[in-house]
Amino acid sequence: MTAAGRKRKSSVMSVQVYEVRDSQYDRGDTGERRSGAFEEKKEKGVVEAGWLRKQGVLSYDPGYTNTACCTSRITYLDGERGILRYRGYPIEQLAGKSSFLEVAYTLYYGELPTEQDLRLYETNVAAHRTPHNDLVKIISNGFRSDAHPMGVLASTMMAMGTLYPEANPALRGNHVYESHKVREKQVFRILGTMPLLVANIYRSQNGLAPMVGFDTGDMNFTESFLCALNWVEGKQYKPNKKLARAMDVLFVLHADHELNCSTATMRQLTSSGVDVYTSVAASIGALYGPLHGGATEAVLKMLERIKSVDNIPAFLDAVKNREEKLMGFGHRVYRNYDPRAKIIKKIAYEVFEEVGQVDPLIDLATELERAALTDEYFAKRKLYPNVDFYSGLIYKAIGFPTEFFPCLFAIGRTAGWLAHWNEFLEDPEKKIARPMQLYKGHGKRDYIEVFSRWGKRRNSRISSRVLARRFKK
Ligand SMILES: CC(C)(COP(=O)(O)OP(=O)(O)OC[C@H]1O[C@@H](n2cnc3c(N)ncnc32)[C@H](O)[C@@H]1OP(=O)(O)O)[C@@H](O)C(=O)NCCC(=O)NCCS
Repeated sequence: MTAAGRKRKSSVMSVQVYEVRDSQYDRGDTGERRSGAFEEKKEKGVVEAGWLRKQGVLSYDPGYTNTACCTSRITYLDGERGILRYRGYPIEQLAGKSSFLEVAYTLYYGELPTEQDLRLYETNVAAHRTPHNDLVKIISNGFRSDAHPMGVLASTMMAMGTLYPEANPALRGNHVYESHKVREKQVFRILGTMPLLVANIYRSQNGLAPMVGFDTGDMNFTESFLCALNWVEGKQYKPNKKLARAMDVLFVLHADHELNCSTATMRQLTSSGVDVYTSVAASIGALYGPLHGGATEAVLKMLERIKSVDNIPAFLDAVKNREEKLMGFGHRVYRNYDPRAKIIKKIAYEVFEEVGQVDPLIDLATELERAALTDEYFAKRKLYPNVDFYSGLIYKAIGFPTEFFPCLFAIGRTAGWLAHWNEFLEDPEKKIARPMQLYKGHGKRDYIEVFSRWGKRRNSRISSRVLARRFKK
């Protein structure tokens, strides 16, 4: 390493933000220069774990709270100051002026597209708006009617991969993704099909005929998604432009968030050389968790349980006693107001105005936020509302069932997953992900024949006598 990464360090929390530029992060050095003193390394902002290893030291970091596993040029996040930028562009500007597909392009290619490039990109994505018939059949016939949509979505994405053997490294060799054209084809296909998969899951679970394809005319990505949800054979559907724009902004806000759990999953799976559909399916699985994208759904269920403003103090007491969790609050990286939450709160009121009714839960949410922000427990831990606190109320107002909220998050986040997939494939330093562990189990001990184990299993639910009897049969 040659020179310092720019470092800012919080005086209270141990969150550190490193912005390391190419010229500052030279991995080419070896030997002498790497064996410098730790103090010198510390000053430079980044200590390579390989250097620690040479000193006979292993870094132990459950949850990777202070471990960088790659360099990236996609998203910059400063949790202390509440800053989020995609490819250098502030999230506030992108949410105000850009569109989801323009953001998806920018995340993947690194620059804003020219008008011509954007039109071509939109056309390429739109070409995949018709899902494969086999996937429609799987969605309609392969699951129970009460299956969680995220389970269906992850399974269908996995199934989707089996339809394209020519894009599968396990079948065609590791080189398949060396071609940029092949990569782009998968990006267009996944981005284009994803909304149709979600729409068909919704339709199947609501007794509507499957949507196999339709003429979207000049509808954009999000308008055609709303159309697919509401489409009725022989009828013209005109999406509400304001609601479509609100949804599009939510997709922009969800598009990337550097190495969150599902994006780390994307990179982790890609590192094994598996096909991109399997990696996306696994990322959907990671996003499903209530501590990650599943929080959108969990927040609404929490608000419905709290029911009234009068119950807030008791609920917050339960949180402080660790009987409850305040969903939609807190973040691994933000120790300040999540900039996305500010934008979403504003959109929520615009959507309520458009649909002509204010959800009483918004008052409850606003009061819950106020009460938490003025409470010492949350202030001390720097817990602020995150992106999921208000987004569920918007989805609800637009008419989505609660269980669908994480699927909507997944549509937006797919853009980020694919950008990280591409960046990982390009990375000259890539390696199969393989964390280490600190082993705390038994030392060496000798195997005991099963009939000789009597007396050593007193605490087990099945006694060795029962085991032995079963064995004799
Ligand atoms: C997002 C989240 C998983 C981050 O977890 P993390 O970075 O590991 O944070 P920690 O669990 O170390 O939290 C630090 C402290 O704040 C508390 N805390 C964090 N989030 C909390 C929440 N939502 N409600 C109550 N307490 C919370 C922890 O209990 C811990 O307290 P302690 O120091 O007394 O033990 C966590 O904040 C959370 O579960 N939030 C709710 C789920 C959610 O909204 N997820 C969406 C994220 S975009």
